[in-house]
Amino acid sequence: MSPSAVTAMAALLLTGGAGFIGSHTLLVLLQAGHELVVLDNFANSSPIALDRVLELASPDAAGRLHRVEGDVRSAADLDRAFTAPAKPIAGVVHFAGLKAVRESVEQPLLYWDVNLGGTRALAEAMGRHHCDLVVFSSTATVYGEPQEFPLTEAMPTPPVHPYAQTKLAAEQMLASLVRSEGWRVASLRYFNPVGAHPSGRIGEDPSGIPNNLFPYITQVAAGRLEHLRVFGEDYPTRDGSGERDYIHVMDLAEAHVATLDHLMQQPGPTQITLNLGTGEARSVLEVVHAFEQATDIAIPYEVLPRRAGDVPKLEASPESAAKLLGWRASRSLEQMCRDGWAWQQANPNGYR
Ligand code: WQD
Repeated sequence: MSPSAVTAMAALLLTGGAGFIGSHTLLVLLQAGHELVVLDNFANSSPIALDRVLELASPDAAGRLHRVEGDVRSAADLDRAFTAPAKPIAGVVHFAGLKAVRESVEQPLLYWDVNLGGTRALAEAMGRHHCDLVVFSSTATVYGEPQEFPLTEAMPTPPVHPYAQTKLAAEQMLASLVRSEGWRVASLRYFNPVGAHPSGRIGEDPSGIPNNLFPYITQVAAGRLEHLRVFGEDYPTRDGSGERDYIHVMDLAEAHVATLDHLMQQPGPTQITLNLGTGEARSVLEVVHAFEQATDIAIPYEVLPRRAGDVPKLEASPESAAKLLGWRASRSLEQMCRDGWAWQQANPNGYR
């Protein structure tokens, strides 16, 4: 049966579906005609994001979206999510989790509880509800401080901080269910997701002062922050500042749909791990200049010492995803800057 036929007869669950990547993936899945359940405790997201997604989707989408407010660690909340639609849940995209590296170093047990405990609770709920397909939101920080580039999925994954450890452990937990229960599992290792839907109606909405480069730059552009701090200009990179593989969040959303379609087509036990990046790392200063070019807004900055925990460079080899899914990131750094700014300019305080 074609993937669209299979998924048309069933529903999909998105844990953390109101978050940055979750909301963009939710929009693409709604536009593809799916029925969806979003389970979110709104700890690091806003229910307004769901309203905005419906605004962007077709008028009938509201009837295909079930909202369940709850915690991915709670069996009762998960059971409510799995039984929200009349149709069975055929697959899960598991976004819900904590993702701040420094916070994971300061509060490791919280990260083990939410990221691994939440994945375990989800897997047990999937068992109760006879669902055997899951796409898992993992991270490129599992590669630690690599020396060789671009990074393939076979590269070493040293335990550098609790955030990466919890994501890797969750990958391994789900992989063990492929062997024991015959599940179909995909772990997607995101590089640096940035930008926003071109409408400017949904986007990244970090609480407090942003840790990440892109939202920090857009808040400087919006006048909410005075200037950018560039953490280090003495890295072994092209211009001395850190290099990362930034990927447009819409490319990332589309990669999730391609992954779901691929898993739906698999007749039996399947385990895949994929890097999701563009294959082209850019430095902090290159991003600043690209943003200034794309928006005609100057971004003042001062150079400070390196930030603890930062690695010089992360850059994906996107070949596995291209070969397996026929997917490649297509949006440029300029589009990331333009779309990220359109969101920030229209929503100076995010969803608040
Ligand atoms: C990017 C570059 C900084 C802020 C983090 C998480 C990772 C993932 C993506 C979840 C680095 C520099 C940053 C600033 C700067 N999230 N920088 N000034 O650290 O690569 O990854 O987000 O999966 O888990 O760790 O992203 O945007 O924080 O940093 O100079 O104010 O920008 O040094 O070189 P990072 P980032």
